[in-house]
Amino acid sequence: MRLFALTGAGVSAESGLGTFRDKKGEGIWARFDPMKLATPEAFARDPEAVQAFYDARRRNLLGAEPNGAHFALAGLERALDARGGELTLVTQNIDDLHERAGSRRVIHMHGELLKARCVRCAAVLPQREDLGGSSRCPACETVGALRPHVVWFGEVPLHMEEISAALVRADRFAAIGTSGSVYPAAGFVAEARALGLGTCEINLEPSDNARLFDERRYGKASEAVAAWAREIVEAL
Ligand code: APR
Repeated sequence: MRLFALTGAGVSAESGLGTFRDKKGEGIWARFDPMKLATPEAFARDPEAVQAFYDARRRNLLGAEPNGAHFALAGLERALDARGGELTLVTQNIDDLHERAGSRRVIHMHGELLKARCVRCAAVLPQREDLGGSSRCPACETVGALRPHVVWFGEVPLHMEEISAALVRADRFAAIGTSGSVYPAAGFVAEARALGLGTCEINLEPSDNARLFDERRYGKASEAVAAWAREIVEAL
């Protein structure tokens, strides 16, 4: 089996990392204005505010641990590999919890919070400390040119060619812990259907695209993903 799994913020919710949107209107973007904190224009206008926002999220991430959903997906990757199959794990998340749970191939289409990028020389560097405005790029020595290596609204996601190729290669598609409200990720299910893939949604509540999925499983990711992965492995 060649499985394509897309994950979103809901997978990391039980690890204490906030989601952006939920039906109760309590997500990150209900408390912070994304147009003031997550756009290139906002960074040009007020870099200190943007850096402080991501510094706080980075500190929070460094104190977080993977949960059962992350471990179940890492186990599924190993089980499929061992049987000549593959799991392509594409995440919208900028955290490293999939990798910390043991996933070996994770495609971060929205970037990675534990990396910084130089807007001058485009170098991408590991970043675990606060960035702040006076950081110096170790590659080109420019001061104040380092930004979080994340994809902001209005910017093009990363690795799209690799992602499209993996979708064409896959025979099953799953979306896990995502509201299905942000494109291009939210459009993958329609592409998967057009390619004739079986489609499954695993989420706490129906996503904006729920009607497009053949199979829907609602519940907490740590439990629902573990049960789903177990069933797949047993059926292999
Ligand atoms: N288990 C399963 N699903 C959960 C859980 C949980 N414990 N907690 C919340 N969810 C679900 C919510 O019901 C919601 O549908 O996870 C979904 C998270 O949706 P969003 O917060 O919109 O996150 P996501 O879909 O990943 O956002 C996409 O938007 O803000 C941008 O770049 C950011 O990558 C992000 C993109």
